[in-house]
Amino acid sequence: MPPLFEKRILCIGAGYVGGPTMAMIASRCPQYQVTLVDINHEKIAAWQTDELPIYEPGLLRLVQEARGRNLFFSTDIPACIREADIIFVSVNTPTKTFGEGAGKAADLQYWEKTARSILQASQHDKIIVEKSTLPVRTAKAMERILNQSGKKVRFEVLSNPEFLAEGTAVRDLENPDRVLIGSRETDSGLCARQQLVDIYANWVPREKILTSNVWSAELSKLAANAFLAQRISSINSISVLCEQTHADIVEVSRAIGMDRRIGSRFLDASVGFGGSCFKKDILNLVYICEHYGLSEIARYWQSVLLINEYQQNRFVKTMLHEMFNTVAGKRITLFGFAFKKDTGDTRESPGIWIARKLLAERAQVVVTDPQALDNARQELKDALDAVEFEPDPYRAARGAHAVAVITEWDLYRDLAWERVYDSMEKPAFVFDGRNILPHPRLYDIGFSVFPIGRPALRQF
Ligand SMILES: NC(=O)c1ccc[n+]([C@@H]2O[C@H](COP(=O)([O-])OP(=O)(O)OC[C@H]3O[C@@H](n4cnc5c(N)ncnc54)[C@H](O)[C@@H]3O)[C@@H](O)[C@H]2O)c1
Repeated sequence: MPPLFEKRILCIGAGYVGGPTMAMIASRCPQYQVTLVDINHEKIAAWQTDELPIYEPGLLRLVQEARGRNLFFSTDIPACIREADIIFVSVNTPTKTFGEGAGKAADLQYWEKTARSILQASQHDKIIVEKSTLPVRTAKAMERILNQSGKKVRFEVLSNPEFLAEGTAVRDLENPDRVLIGSRETDSGLCARQQLVDIYANWVPREKILTSNVWSAELSKLAANAFLAQRISSINSISVLCEQTHADIVEVSRAIGMDRRIGSRFLDASVGFGGSCFKKDILNLVYICEHYGLSEIARYWQSVLLINEYQQNRFVKTMLHEMFNTVAGKRITLFGFAFKKDTGDTRESPGIWIARKLLAERAQVVVTDPQALDNARQELKDALDAVEFEPDPYRAARGAHAVAVITEWDLYRDLAWERVYDSMEKPAFVFDGRNILPHPRLYDIGFSVFPIGRPALRQF
């Protein structure tokens, strides 16, 4: 009897990357069996319901289409490893918090445990695909763990970094700018690379599938995130100058973005970037540069993070300064807590830092967000008695002295701001950390409005 599926694909790590990526492969390639495993049993259970463990527009539809047909979820990691021909490793690689390299280097413990589980359970040759973002030359370590055990089974390690952005993951996976596959230039490396190219070629145009050596692929991911974060810090640095000189950052962004060499995307000034990747990947890059004795290069990239922290700090300082140098006892509502719109992810969100700073100033903090309240509660779990969590933005703003926009959710732009104003303490302040609100209209209603990098609209 012919096998039911042409290939058996496994992904270890069913998080923000593993989940959507495998759902897309399963949806576009019904001829492959795609299985997701995770050590977190609750997460695996949630993937099998319509309450998915992550929020991502369009994801539920994609999962529903393939689940039970060729997309499966399991906690039996050894059995799934044994069966698989191609294994994607998409476990978390956070910043190390202990020992050598603490606060900078990538913590590779989850990744290494995965390599050892693969080695232990495997009985036939496999292709291992690094999907996690890793320090350059990590594939070498993976190969050493896997191929030097004396076992007869051979493993070919590829690097296939993921470039999706949370909030647009499904769109990005469906129509990626590029797919990058790094391999060894050996016969077996090139053959493995071809097998991975064949998977993506089911829906990605061939000219968008780039191949490279393994180290270039690993480094490209770190470099891409560093460049993206650098753009945000660059425009944020100019936003500070705008506030001093009465230039308007929105006008400056438009003017420089029309230069094709610069391009218009990722030029929105804001309260700063968050998310699980930018900071961690830049720290990792800095650590690698330091390892190679490249202190000037390390300092250059470190400054991207410094500007980001500066921008977040500045936001709170402006609030404090404009609200008569005290927020003690004042109710301040954070509109949004996710690190960006269309996700419930709060990892490294500027909201965390801002909430903590406000709490240190003894403000009463209220957090509202359409998707991220559960994660917000987790992030602030040591301060739950001092923070209120309220899904409804109108109720959250009731009695507040100030509203601060942290996340650029569209719904905040479209609120009945007269109603918000009427329910707030006076004078009512809006600090728009994303420049998404209609500032002149808010001013006409009665608010004092403080955007980023644009002239403030004060009532007095
Ligand atoms: N989140 C993003 O937008 C994004 C984008 C591109 C790349 N990346 C990279 O992808 C990787 C995964 O990121 P994420 O956001 O999906 O993380 P995540 O925390 O959402 O998911 C990782 C999952 O791996 C599981 N896991 C850890 N160790 C395991 C083990 N030994 N066996 C089985 N499962 C294990 C965890 O339980 C978790 O569910 C990271 O390296 C990250 O830098 C993330």
